[in-house]
Amino acid sequence: MRYLASTIAIAATALVTSFPAQAADPPRQKLEEMAATLAANLARVCPQTTYNDVAALKSCSTALSQATFLPFANDVLWGGDQASQPIKKRHLTHFNPNVLKEMYLPLMTFTGKWTVAHDDRENLDIIRVEAYFRNDLPAGDYPYPFWHSADKWNAYETMNQVNFYLNAEGKIFVGTRGDAGSNAAKGPYTHVAHEPFQKGQWQWTDQTGKSQPEVTLFSARYQSGNPHTERLDQNYRAFASEMRAASCDGCHNPSNPAHSDQLTLLQTPAHAAGEIDRVIKEVQEGTMPQDELGLRKEIDPALRSAILRTAVAFRNELVAANQWEALNPDAPAIAYSTDRNAGRTR
Ligand code: HEC
Repeated sequence: MRYLASTIAIAATALVTSFPAQAADPPRQKLEEMAATLAANLARVCPQTTYNDVAALKSCSTALSQATFLPFANDVLWGGDQASQPIKKRHLTHFNPNVLKEMYLPLMTFTGKWTVAHDDRENLDIIRVEAYFRNDLPAGDYPYPFWHSADKWNAYETMNQVNFYLNAEGKIFVGTRGDAGSNAAKGPYTHVAHEPFQKGQWQWTDQTGKSQPEVTLFSARYQSGNPHTERLDQNYRAFASEMRAASCDGCHNPSNPAHSDQLTLLQTPAHAAGEIDRVIKEVQEGTMPQDELGLRKEIDPALRSAILRTAVAFRNELVAANQWEALNPDAPAIAYSTDRNAGRTR
C-alpha cells in the first residue's frame, strides 16, 4: 500500500508539473497563507472581549509592539477605506509603522476571520481581517479624541474589518478600516458618547493633574528605568515650542485644516517622534512650513535653525532611548489608564 501511495503521489506531482495552468495559483496560495497567519496571530494577541477591557488593550499593544508577524513597509498610510477611490486619491494619515502597531491597531479586537482580494485596477493584493473597535476605553487610551468628528467616531464604531494593502514586495503599505464585513461575531455593542471634544484640545490635563492622552507620552512608551526618558521629554518640549512658533501644529493635527490628502500628525510626543526624520528633512529643505495656499512660507532663519536644532536633539535622544530599550528588553511599559473614572478637566 505504501508503495502504491507514493506512486500516486509521484504521478500527481508529474501532472502538476506538466500542466502548471491547472495547479493552484501559487501567488494566491501564498497570499492566503499569509492572511491566515496574520489573522490567527492578531486574534491570539488581541482577541474578542468586551469593548472596555483596558487590560486586554494593554496586552494587545505590548504584543503588537514586539510583533514580527506584521510585515509593514517603512511608511504606512491609515484611514477609512474609501474603496471607490484609487489609493493616491484617498484621504489617509501617514504613520511610522510602530505608532500604528502600538497605538492604533490595539484599539481593535480581532476574531481570526479573514478573506483575500485583488484590486485589479491598482494590481494590489488585499488581506481583510475581521475586527471591531474598542469604543468604551478611558479617553486617554485613544491617541486623540476620535469623537472630535461625529462621522469619524461613527466610522470607528461601525467598522468590522481592517484591510491591509500589500505593495509589490508583499509589505503592508496601507491599512484601512471598513464596514463591508460581518457583525455576526461583534457581540453586544452600545454607542458610547465620550466627554465632548473642546476645539483644539488634542492634549489636556485630567482631574488628577496628569497629561493626556497618556498613551502618547514617553512615560507610556518606555520602561521606567530608561535613563533617557526625562531628557527625551525635555527635548520634545523644546522642539514642540519651536513648532508652535512656526505654526506647524496649526495644520498638522487631526482636524486637518489644510485638507492634506496624506496628513502628517505632529500634535503629541508619540506622533511627533514617529515623524521626526521627515520633519528634519522638510525643514532642512525649506519645503515646510507652507502657507494656506500650499506655497513655501518664509520664516525667520533664526526660527528655522531653532526648529532644526531642537528637532535633531530630540531625534538623537529618541535614538538613545530606543537603543536602551533594545538592550534591556524587559516587558515594555506601555501604560494605560487604570482609573476608569479619571475624567477630563480643562
Ligand atoms: C498651512 C499649513 C501647514 C503648515 C503651517 C505646515 N505644514 Fe507641513 N504640510 C502641510 C501639507 C498640506 C502637507 C502635505 C502635502 C504636501 O506635501 O504639500 C504637509 C506635509 C508635511 C510633512 C510630510 C512631508 C512628506 O511628504 O514627507 C512634514 C514632515 C511636515 N509637513 C512638517 C511640517 C513642519 C515641521 C511645519 C512647521 C515648521 C509644517 N509642516 C508647517 C501643511 C502645513
